[in-house]
Amino acid sequence: MATAYTKLLLTDLVSSHVNQVPYNYIRPLSDRPDLLNVESNATIALIDLQGLTGANRSQVVKEIGLACQNDGFFQVKNHGIPKDVVDGMLRVAKEFFHLPESERLKTYSQDPRKTTRLSTSFNVKTEKVSNWRDYLRLHCYPLENFVHEWPSNPPCFRQVVGEYCKNTRELALRLLEAISESLGLESDYMEKALGKQAQHMAINYYPPCPQPELTYGLPGHKDPNAITILLQDGVSGLQVFRNGKWVAVNPIPDTLVINIGDMMQVLSNDRFNSVLHRAIVNGTSERISVPTFYCPSPDALIKPAEAIADEEHPPMYRSFTYEDYYVNFWDQGLQFASCLDVFKL
Ligand code: OGA
Ligand code: NI
Repeated sequence: MATAYTKLLLTDLVSSHVNQVPYNYIRPLSDRPDLLNVESNATIALIDLQGLTGANRSQVVKEIGLACQNDGFFQVKNHGIPKDVVDGMLRVAKEFFHLPESERLKTYSQDPRKTTRLSTSFNVKTEKVSNWRDYLRLHCYPLENFVHEWPSNPPCFRQVVGEYCKNTRELALRLLEAISESLGLESDYMEKALGKQAQHMAINYYPPCPQPELTYGLPGHKDPNAITILLQDGVSGLQVFRNGKWVAVNPIPDTLVINIGDMMQVLSNDRFNSVLHRAIVNGTSERISVPTFYCPSPDALIKPAEAIADEEHPPMYRSFTYEDYYVNFWDQGLQFASCLDVFKL
């Protein structure tokens, strides 16, 4: 029997003890996670960022460049974000999703243009099958333009999340410097290429799922922004597509996952590839992940760096504004095909 979907948020549907995935979450047979066919002991680059500040900088820059080129993602340790800031972020995220429904729904919206909103799945207005996820999406840079819109419950939310955002921005800028250098560009090339810059964040909440083999937390997709810094709690769920196989990126304490998004693929003229990744869910544990999406400002003109294009590697894309690209992102839905094709030369 099909179960009626009567709640706005998945969290509240699940807490009414569903023992089956409602029909609107069930993927067609050809598009299920195939959980037994996932590599779970893969070696994934773990880069120690401590080295960026010492005599070994060029070595670490090289490692970052290689990971971006080969995989489009890597993990970092000694990333400079204090443990209490990271722990606070995860704690307040959990507290938020455990608030009473009426309290959470104060920020609910299905309009992707809203700069602060709680929603569910990906884009409920356009998608056919729902995803096993609720999420709070926040714009975070410049912080003072947005922080007053953020939830004020838990009472420490704005302070704790704001602190995390300031720290992730600093880390993003350090990574952009290293990435620029790894491509042989001036250190500040990528930072400048993103114009006035923007920073968005999602707080993803994946409740336990009675039939994880039928659905996704998030199906395979590429991130639209330049680079993503992903914080996961202790529960596995992130998988990345590498050499034709899905690879589990199981959380390691005190590390963050970095991945290349579509804008960095363009800026690097396809030297780095935006990586396909997904989130799966499980039958027993809730899972929280907090991606920071470091982006160009909407008016930034995005194009392949001229200094790395040559006769052998001609520019692969025409220039476009981030806004031109981003308008399609929410409407097209998460999909394997890239939103970049229309800008290809
Ligand atoms: C995302 C994402 C992965 C995860 O929010 O874009 O890829 O592990 N999340 O939740
Ligand atoms: Ni993603």
